[in-house]
Amino acid sequence: MCDGVPLDRIAAAEGTPLYVYSASTIAARYRAIDEAFASYPHAIHYALKANSTLAITRLLRSLGSSADANSGGEIDVALRAGFIPAQIVFTGVGKTTNELAQAIDLGVRTINVESAGEIGRIDALSRERGTRTKIAIRINPDVDARTHPHISTGLKTNKFGIAIGDVKALCAHARTLAGVDVVGLHAHIGSQITDLEPLARAARALVALAHELAAEGTCIEHLDLGGGLGVSYDGSRVPTAQEYADAVLPIVRESGLAIVLEPGRQIVAPAGALLTRVVDVKEAGGQKLFVIMDAGMSELIRPMLYNAVHRIEPVLQTGAPPILSDVVGPLCESSDTLGKDRTLPRPEAGELYAILDTGAYGSVMASNYNRRLLPAEVMVEDGKARVIRRRQTIDELLSLEI
Ligand code: LLP
Repeated sequence: MCDGVPLDRIAAAEGTPLYVYSASTIAARYRAIDEAFASYPHAIHYALKANSTLAITRLLRSLGSSADANSGGEIDVALRAGFIPAQIVFTGVGKTTNELAQAIDLGVRTINVESAGEIGRIDALSRERGTRTKIAIRINPDVDARTHPHISTGLKTNKFGIAIGDVKALCAHARTLAGVDVVGLHAHIGSQITDLEPLARAARALVALAHELAAEGTCIEHLDLGGGLGVSYDGSRVPTAQEYADAVLPIVRESGLAIVLEPGRQIVAPAGALLTRVVDVKEAGGQKLFVIMDAGMSELIRPMLYNAVHRIEPVLQTGAPPILSDVVGPLCESSDTLGKDRTLPRPEAGELYAILDTGAYGSVMASNYNRRLLPAEVMVEDGKARVIRRRQTIDELLSLEI
């Protein structure tokens, strides 16, 4: 069930593969963060990259969230969902001139800058327009987030941010520029972080740097702590939003600076499931089965890209005896494995399964590989399931081709 609505009914109506989201879970998880930080000036800029389907983006806005956009496309989505530019921070390691011009012309809250070159480009574009643009410096604090290497961003060997040792000289230079105002410091050290210590270390680095900058004449207005707090994919205990707040607030409080938070996964991951049907079952040699689903890496690439483990459960209990299974997708790659060595009640063709905690970095990372059509998405709200994105058609897929 999703909030009282049977998943098999939703799947029968809309087909599979299908993403289903719970609006009430998204709201509860957003509020948990907001309440955890209630004692301190803060703004939650939901990281659109986690899931920016318009209905979800609008829901977050209605809850009081602001937005973190990582591309011109995400800025467009934010605007269409009703965010005003002052609610948008623009991050990204390779913003193009067009994207920077878009953000400058709109007047977004800040552009989080990633290099000296980018500051120069923003300064030039702003001066051409006779304006000053608010920027926050994304620092690379050289902190190990102790997460999967593909989603670790705070080490000096990662492509992200400006080496912490270079920031003071860069700010001194920025003070001489007519087109930029340094108003913030930003750090985002990785994603799916389940250890609070690296997050606390990054916050400490931001606070210390803010003090040093103030002494030199750069007075900033906010610290952007990024996102990154992990969720539990396997049922094990992970830090709560409150524990995260308790770890970082004592560090930032003495600075008096407002904070920006950019959570993505924390809000939407547990609010979504990918529904998929068993297409075929065959012997994998010995006492193991291949359970072939109608969803694979084109709908959910996290298991293949990050060795991510998502729980895979039958929607209806069958009482069949348990059997060791590799749950695989239909694509032409051996890497197209959704779950290895899972013990499932012996599955049968046609049965409906749910792949859990796929609300973040699921549908947004879907692809058309093997000419597969992007899946539909459904949101359950107030006891009703409604399609928020219909399934792509082959005509739509081919409509771009000449
Ligand atoms: N802020 C910045 C600057 C980011 O780069 C990210 C995520 C976030 C905020 C949100 O992080 P979160 O709170 O969701 O951890 N596709 C990968 C995750 C990539 C995260 C990229 N940056 C996955 O499926 O695990």
